[in-house]
Amino acid sequence: MAAEGLVAERIPIASDHAGFEMKEKLKARLVALGYDVQDLGTNSAASTDYPDYAHAVSREVESGRAARGVLLCGTGLGMTYAANRHAHVRAAVAWAPEIAELARKHNDANVLAVPARFVSEQDAAAILDRFLNTAFEGGRHQPRVDKIELEGEK
Ligand code: RB5
Repeated sequence: MAAEGLVAERIPIASDHAGFEMKEKLKARLVALGYDVQDLGTNSAASTDYPDYAHAVSREVESGRAARGVLLCGTGLGMTYAANRHAHVRAAVAWAPEIAELARKHNDANVLAVPARFVSEQDAAAILDRFLNTAFEGGRHQPRVDKIELEGEK
């Protein structure tokens, strides 16, 4: 959350058509919380291909231009398949706040994928909040997370 005098964290967010409506709601929530939101689409409920949006957000995280990002599609799955092809991206589908919390604490997830067709608006907001407000625990989880990266990507 942005504090007075600090630069707001920039959060790229994107969805396909299945996540569009929920993306608009989470975007509004992020703006209300003071984040610098970068909406990378889609911009309507017209049919689209989820990898295009997964790659757009993941490029921001892979490059370091953003520390974290948010994706939405019907199940969250397709988004994570594409996002996790990017170096340094750890995208997690979270269908409950507890999953988002553990994805941050244990896996240092840096991209949240919301299964928009399977969670309520209220649940999605709670999942997002938990993802944003939970820190990576480090410790025994650090070497495990380090082992995720392939040799050529370290
Ligand atoms: C779109 O119908 C749906 O396949 C997509 O949103 C997503 O669930 C893919 O993983």
